[in-house]
This record gives sequence, C-alpha cells and structure tokens, in this order.
Amino acid sequence: MKPSRRAKLMRRYPSIADLRDRARKRIPHVAWEYLDCGLGDEAALARTVESMRNVPLVPRFMKGDIQPEVGTTLFGRSFAAPFGVAPIGLGGLMWAQVEKILAKTAASYSIPYTLSTVAAQTPETVGPLAQEMGWFQLYPPRARELRDELIGRVRDAGFNTLVVTADVPAPSRRERTLRAGLRMPPRITPRFIWQGLCNPSWSARVLRYGLPRLKTMEPYARSASMRDVVTFVETHMGCGVSWDYLNEIRDQWQGALILKGILHPGDAELAVEAGVDGIQVSNHGARQLDAVPAAIDMLPAIARQVGGRASILFDSGVRSGLDVARALALGADFVMLGRAFVYAVAALGADGAELVVELLKLDLKLNMSQLGFSTVEELKSSAVGVDS
Ligand code: FNR
Repeated sequence: MKPSRRAKLMRRYPSIADLRDRARKRIPHVAWEYLDCGLGDEAALARTVESMRNVPLVPRFMKGDIQPEVGTTLFGRSFAAPFGVAPIGLGGLMWAQVEKILAKTAASYSIPYTLSTVAAQTPETVGPLAQEMGWFQLYPPRARELRDELIGRVRDAGFNTLVVTADVPAPSRRERTLRAGLRMPPRITPRFIWQGLCNPSWSARVLRYGLPRLKTMEPYARSASMRDVVTFVETHMGCGVSWDYLNEIRDQWQGALILKGILHPGDAELAVEAGVDGIQVSNHGARQLDAVPAAIDMLPAIARQVGGRASILFDSGVRSGLDVARALALGADFVMLGRAFVYAVAALGADGAELVVELLKLDLKLNMSQLGFSTVEELKSSAVGVDS
C-alpha cells in the first residue's frame, strides 16, 4: 500500500472499531454473526471486552525523550511487534482467501500468523506465504494416525510452532448464528442469496474463489463435500484432548508448542509439567462458555503461577494497541488477536490487513510513550497496574 493511501486510511479508520463498523456493512449478516458473536446471553463477551477496557495503567514520567521500540523475541525468534494473528476457522465465510491475505501480511510485517485446522486453506498453501511466521493451530484428532499425518504435513509445509487448542471439549451452540440461519455446511437459501446480492464485494470474491471449504480435512474425510467434511470434523477432531495426549504431541513435535485456551492456574501448572513452551491464556473470544471469566482477569494469576517457566501468550478482547500494552503489563509475553484482523480484511481487503497492523503498532508505541517505556521488555517487567 502506498504511504499516501495508508495515511488516508488511518485518518478515515482511526481505530479497530471503525474497521468493525465497515466490515459489518460489507459482509452478509450470516457471516457477520458467525464472526462477531459470543454465545448464550453474551455475558462473557461483554465481560471480556469490558474488563479489558477497565484495566488502568499508571504512567511514570520524567524519562526524557522516549522513542518506543515494539520488537520482541519469543521462542528464540524475533518479531517486529509483540502481537500476531490468532486462528480463525472458516475464515473464507467472512472474506474469501482471508487466510492468504493475513499470512502474507504477517510475513511482510514479521508477526506470527496462526492457521486454523478448520481454515478454508491448507497448510501447504499457507505455509510458504507465512514463511518463518507460520504457526499451526491443531484441533487434536482422536485418531493417532491422523494426528501424526497432519503434524507431518504441517512440519513439511514450514510451520515452526504448533498451537494445541484445549478449550473446545465439545462443539458450542451459538444462538446468534442459529437465528441468522447459519448451517454447517452453509446452505444456499433465498435468504443467503439475498444477503449476497446486498454485499457485492463479498459476492464477487465468492464467485471468483468459491464458498469456503475445510480443505485441510478433505483428504481425511475422503470427500470434498462440505457436509461430509463437517461431519467428519465434528466426530473426529478436537474433543477428548487430555494431558496424556498432550504429552504424546510433545514427544512428537520438536518445534515450539503452545497450549491455547487456558484460564485456570492449575491447568497452567500442568501445562508447564507437560513441557509446553507457551501457554495461551484465552477464553476463545467468549465463544465456548457464557460463564467464563474475562481472560484478562485470569492473566496475572496464571503469569504468577508459571513464573517464567513457559512463555505466556494472551488473547480475547484485544481491540487496540493499548489493550496489547495492558496484557503485556499484566503478565503476557505476547498477544494475539482474532476478530480484529478479520474485521480489518472484511472492511478493506488486503489494505485492511496492513492497516490493522499499522494501527496496532502506532497505538502501542504512543501508549508506551505515555506510560514511560521504550521497549516491550521494560513494559513487561514494569509495575504499572494500579495494584502493583
Ligand atoms: C475463533 N477462534 C478459534 N480458535 C481456535 O483455536 N481455532 C479456531 O478454528 C478458531 N476459530 C475462530 C473463529 C472465529 C470466527 C473467531 C472469532 C474465533 C478463537 C480465536 O483464535 C481467539 O481465541 C479469539 O478470537 C480471541 O478473541 P478476540 O481477539 O476475537 O476477541
């Protein structure tokens, strides 16, 4: 993107909330509901966003001229910013080829991109685009042979970090998507066609690239029919992961291993004992259980429990560079965002992906200056929380 266009877009869409508003107007209601929703009364979703917004940080002054640097390291690798892209399943429903757009952007900005097991693109397609920045999220298959084969594919495709999702012991039931008429697989109903007609940019991409498919899983389901693949995933993936199972993965995967979806310090302790490299504190964007606490409220206790024996990653409810700073100040080493990246791409295509990275970096830098920190390391080891 040309600097002049970037500057124009940054004035027009100064925050992720602006990108969210535009995304809502550009994609069919059914896709919007899938992306944006929580579940139940959405109490957990409201809590997740509100608790984050309510984290105060106390600035320290008189530090002279501050020029913040936002680069950091994790698992021995350098990243240009302490944030990256969380896995999003069925991304193609919101914007065809969103996985490719985000993977390319992540590679060019040197931030991690996590490909979901149930993405619309395969590891073989996305791995080369993400280059060194490729992480793969695993919904662990029940069958060990299938797991071994999938992990082998991911390794061969160049992914260096495996993210095992712990927090989907069963599929969830999200009322907003039911009301919107979302079926798995998506069905071409008159309502869906009408919504497509009302969103021409979205429809043009669907006509060009097709409706989303769970391509990674098609060989195992032995079918390209979305219905068969969805049934296969629901029956064979994700459910039933255990500490023993994680130990087996640890023996098998030599790269960095992250356990995603941890909210209890006791589980964090067990994850450390299992030898993970990273623990991703997350409530899955409040999409699995409407009683969960805000992930940010559990972060300090988990960081204390882990005490540096593994890296702490964080997601859920991050909507700005300031939120990234909040999570770092409360104990995270690295921060991931899910919806924000998809809002941005649905709003502005590939330009949106670049814009959201620029916005997050700028907002993080400005807030680090306001707080009195020049580096991410300083911010992480600070005591800027009001109770610190
Ligand atoms: C997700 N998330 C998710 N997590 C995962 O481990 N595998 C997946 O396939 C998905 N799919 C998915 C789809 C959609 C539409 C959303 C919004 C989320 C959860 C995701 O990785 C992350 O934990 C949350 O999105 C973080 O919350 P925020 O940043 O969206 O508030």
